[in-house]
Amino acid sequence: MERNSFDHVWINARLATFDPRVPGACGLLEGHVLAVRGETIAAVFPADSAEMCGYRGGITDCGGKLVTPGFIDCHTHLVWGGSRAAEWEMRLRGVPYTEIAKAGGGILSTVRATRTRSEDELLHAALPRLNALVAEGVTCVEIKSGYGLTLADELKMLRVAKKLRDVAAVEVSATLLAAHAVPPEFAGRADDYVSLIVNEMIPAVAKEQLADAVDVFCESIAFTPAQCDRIFSAAKAHGLAVKGHVEQLTNSHGAELVARYGGWSADHLEFLDDAGVAAMAKAGTVAVLLPGAFYFLREKQKPPVEQLRAAGVAMAIASDLNPGTSPFASLRLAMNMACVLYGFSPAEALAGVTREAAKALGRGGHLGTLEAGKRADFLVWDVQHPAEIVCQLGVTPLVSRVVRGKSSHA
Ligand code: NIG
Ligand code: FE
Repeated sequence: MERNSFDHVWINARLATFDPRVPGACGLLEGHVLAVRGETIAAVFPADSAEMCGYRGGITDCGGKLVTPGFIDCHTHLVWGGSRAAEWEMRLRGVPYTEIAKAGGGILSTVRATRTRSEDELLHAALPRLNALVAEGVTCVEIKSGYGLTLADELKMLRVAKKLRDVAAVEVSATLLAAHAVPPEFAGRADDYVSLIVNEMIPAVAKEQLADAVDVFCESIAFTPAQCDRIFSAAKAHGLAVKGHVEQLTNSHGAELVARYGGWSADHLEFLDDAGVAAMAKAGTVAVLLPGAFYFLREKQKPPVEQLRAAGVAMAIASDLNPGTSPFASLRLAMNMACVLYGFSPAEALAGVTREAAKALGRGGHLGTLEAGKRADFLVWDVQHPAEIVCQLGVTPLVSRVVRGKSSHA
């Protein structure tokens, strides 16, 4: 490689690389230089290295500030219509989420509202949520459909996700979650609805390249493992990745099913058992933990974090931003909850929204760490210690954000 052919360098930085080859939980490199060429990190090297000799390009002096990879929110439902605040009041009075769902509320009440909204209306409702995530350092976000549940309405949601990518200049990973709930017109005929997903929705989404992956809600109040199996098999046949909302309220052994398909991630996992942990470890399926939903549902059973850690399963953290069970647009709050509620270390939480979240979206090869060859998506923070990013809420000590090599002030 020709020396000094960088476009811009960030000097005098403390790099929390999350590069697994660098020792320490954050892979911290003091006083280093991050060199960018085009949209890519070209090199990471010590300040006194010969690499800088004769360099004449742009320089940003970080003044000892901390640099992390861009944050990745790898599980959101941020496109929706309507509000579920009244249901939240019911839940606070003691009515369980499952009972509200069975009575036609929950996900289905958001489906009713979302179906009446145009693409533009959904875009305008979603944008402030996405902007809130971006303001905290999110440079890549996963967005699920799942509040349309007809072919036209699911495609409508995915098109909004696609437009958000252009409007907000973030990377978007779109996911088809048609198997979120059985729509009212298919009540009592869940298998017929699954046939619609398999025969029409998945082929249409694959043809229009509107999603990277297919998700399911494998749960007593949603879809059975057999139904999810049919959906995963169709997804694979159309070249789409798979993932699942599994073991959130009960143990349906959905994580084992996701692992059997080599799924990107199994998400929630409060009721995951040892066999599920072992299957995920073997398949390399990422555990996406969603402490926001755990908190809002006032759940008692925590995911088996110790067992996942011991088995070497990668653990990501996401906001699960949605109108019902996790109505907040803050990945930093989700990280904080992972520490306080699930026993994560702050470094593990940060790895969970960078390196591990990238793996959960099948993007581990080009996002999630500060390493030569990865996309130049990174954040400059005015903090002394990485844990400050996770500890102090309400104020975001983000100084600037670099996306695809281009810097903007936070
Ligand atoms: O991830 N578990 C299912 N889906 C969402 C909840 C969505 C909703 O209640 O609207 C979740 O928690
Ligand atoms: Fe979810």
